[in-house]
Amino acid sequence: MAYAITVNGTEHEVDLPGDVPLLWVLRDALGLTGTKFGCGVAACGACTVHVDGQAVRSCVTPLDQVAGAVTTIEGLGTPEAPSALQSAWIENQVAQCGYCQSGQIMQAAALLSEVPVPTDAQIDDAMAGNLCRCGTYPRIRAAIKAASATASEG
Ligand code: FES
Ligand code: FES
Repeated sequence: MAYAITVNGTEHEVDLPGDVPLLWVLRDALGLTGTKFGCGVAACGACTVHVDGQAVRSCVTPLDQVAGAVTTIEGLGTPEAPSALQSAWIENQVAQCGYCQSGQIMQAAALLSEVPVPTDAQIDDAMAGNLCRCGTYPRIRAAIKAASATASEG
């Protein structure tokens, strides 16, 4: 059965079973490989994308349950025109191996859209489900604070 799905502002029709996880729709059907597979059971956050602005784990979101427009890391900004959050990530040199980072950024973007100037506790709470084996947590927090300060200046 074909499903219509809007990703990064473009509508696609995908002919896949409704129980295929959104993660594989994005990666395999649409070629958007910025979203990563980590655990497959909503326990690591590597696969985080937005559905209507809310952070969701795409590895456990079936295609037929996607109720809104999807944004992936590719839709947040580009290398030529990064979002403020992505710029803060680069300036703070957050990434090490990089594997968890698109999920981290998508989770952080959802936080900042809800809480533009989060406290340390709010950052820790929002980011608690996004694991990083390289231990970049202090720099993740610094980048979120830098992006938050930039936004509040603007
Ligand atoms: S791959 Fe989805 S939460 Fe780990
Ligand atoms: S940067 Fe390597 S797992 Fe997070």
